[in-house]
Amino acid sequence: MSDQPRADLISADTHGPRTHTCGDLRRDDNGDDVVLKGWVDTRRDHGGLVFIDLRDRHGLTQVVFSPQDNEDAYEAAGRLRSEDVISIRGTVRPRDDEAVNSNLPTGAIEVRGTELAVLNTSEPTPFVVSAHEERRQDVGEELRMKYRYLDLRRPDLQDNLVTRHDLYQSTRGFFDEHDFVEVETPVLMKSTPEGARDFLVPSRLHPGQFYALPQSPQTYKQILMVSGLDRYFQIVKCFRDEDLRADRQPEFTQIDVEMAFATEEQVYELMEGLMERLWKDLQDVELETPFPRMSYDEAIRTYGTDKPDTRFGLKLHDVSECFEDSGFRVFDGILERGGKIVAINVPGEGDRGRGAMDRLDEHVRKEIGAGGLVYFQLPSDGSEIHSSVKKSILPPEHINAAIDAVGAETGDLVLVLAGSAPDVYEQAGDLRLHMADDLDLVSDDAPDHFLWVTDFPLLEWDEEAQRHVPMHHPFTSPHPDDLDKLESDPGDVRSRAYDLVLNGHEIGGGSIRIHNREIQQRAFRALGIDAEEAKQRFGFLLDAFRYGAPPHGGIALGLDRLVMLIAGADSLREVIAFPKTQSAKEPMVDSPDTVDAEQLDALHIDTVVPEDGQPEDASVAETS
Ligand code: AMO
Repeated sequence: MSDQPRADLISADTHGPRTHTCGDLRRDDNGDDVVLKGWVDTRRDHGGLVFIDLRDRHGLTQVVFSPQDNEDAYEAAGRLRSEDVISIRGTVRPRDDEAVNSNLPTGAIEVRGTELAVLNTSEPTPFVVSAHEERRQDVGEELRMKYRYLDLRRPDLQDNLVTRHDLYQSTRGFFDEHDFVEVETPVLMKSTPEGARDFLVPSRLHPGQFYALPQSPQTYKQILMVSGLDRYFQIVKCFRDEDLRADRQPEFTQIDVEMAFATEEQVYELMEGLMERLWKDLQDVELETPFPRMSYDEAIRTYGTDKPDTRFGLKLHDVSECFEDSGFRVFDGILERGGKIVAINVPGEGDRGRGAMDRLDEHVRKEIGAGGLVYFQLPSDGSEIHSSVKKSILPPEHINAAIDAVGAETGDLVLVLAGSAPDVYEQAGDLRLHMADDLDLVSDDAPDHFLWVTDFPLLEWDEEAQRHVPMHHPFTSPHPDDLDKLESDPGDVRSRAYDLVLNGHEIGGGSIRIHNREIQQRAFRALGIDAEEAKQRFGFLLDAFRYGAPPHGGIALGLDRLVMLIAGADSLREVIAFPKTQSAKEPMVDSPDTVDAEQLDALHIDTVVPEDGQPEDASVAETS
């Protein structure tokens, strides 16, 4: 006997192919004989009738079985459970007016079931799978990911995957029309310099040697320009072993682009065209172009971040001058050490109670990591300004100067942070986002805000390594006006790099590249990369540059982030079919996993796992 649950229910499908999906039927179909197939979403028995909500990717249709129509089908329908797979034949009928479900596209009709074939039964699922949001339970991520095939039956996740599919199609169409060639680049390659850790693949044929999975196809796409491909794009998987966040996965997808003879303006125009196309095709929204631009410097000074969310104000103001020689020891000390005092005016919040302000102060210290919060409240009844620092310690003329500088008016709240720059800008930027969130400043239907951030510094100082590292990657071209500072003041050299920002998310980044060997060598020197290291790491690219490399530039967009923002999802995990969890695992297939000793032997690998099994300590050692 079969051990399949309710195996006796299963019957042959004699209905032939389905005539409609579960999302198709409307009042116009009244009286039609139809065949539908799908999953049992819900079953309700009442009044001698069995109601089944039948579900497929396209929707839900209510099917009703009555003993008058078919006694056997009615009996069998009464034994159905959620997630059983069935085929039904029946007749479309309009629902009674009071039974119409206006939330459902098929809600004006039902199908009177005349035949039922049970194609497969389902065991009780580990969590409720349903198109009805109200039936769904709050399920932990681990469980959702372990049973991802059930999780993916949720219509919102299926819709996200369809949006992703649509984005692939529009993107390919767009680049094809613009004369780009899609070229695949290797997945087993050599370490790429994008700044994250590599995922490594041991070589069986070359003991002790490793391939690296690409952090991006950066070097290959530049080589394709040397080869004369002229315009390249690729929808490509990239791999970076870095800490995960809601908008970061170890394995993610880029829309990668490179163009010979490109200028910044050409890259901007092309990408704006792609965004216009995607917004039109996927959301029927007309975007306004060109997108606004902002220098990196301005972004940091007015928003405290290089990816500003410009959908709301609350801009930062440098009010350092207002507090010169104020006599307030904390501020004086910070200014003497070259620090900055940064203020944000929050309109209409001047009457916040003491408790709310204390909680904000705690947030600033604990979550944002600033030393503390100073604030001035301008009560809405026009009464005296309230300062968090006593008048005797911080004299009113300084407070008034700051209030003027930020343009605060009666009823407003001025928040002030002080500290060393650039950290204090970053902290003020975090406070800005916190306030916007707290005050719900961005409505769900707020228009999307795109922004080009330009003029990035070429290098940033790495405190740990005590040297400059590339802000993007080492092939980014320095700004021609700053070339003479490459040796004398490398930290002050701007680059020809740009990022595309959407609603406060970095959705893309790129640059015009260095194609000149002499400048490349000077850039390497500024990065502390000597000739030997340059040869070992990027020799192939430098060699290629000896044979007529055209000027070139490009960009890569984060495809997952784009889909996430278009779909209105909170996390990349909602738009990737099989993502990794917060701890970089995939519970469904149980990866990463140990492998057979034989496999390790073949790869000349011995593993050393510390007793506590902590990932930070795990190491891989070569044996031969
Ligand atoms: P960059 O490192 O800025 O540039 O990456 C381009 C875009 O890819 C997305 N992205 C990610 N998305 C999800 N998870 C991640 N871990 C992740 N890391 C990056 C971001 C980012 O803007 N080779 C260069 C491009 C170039 O210069 O042409 C590069 O990879 O949206």
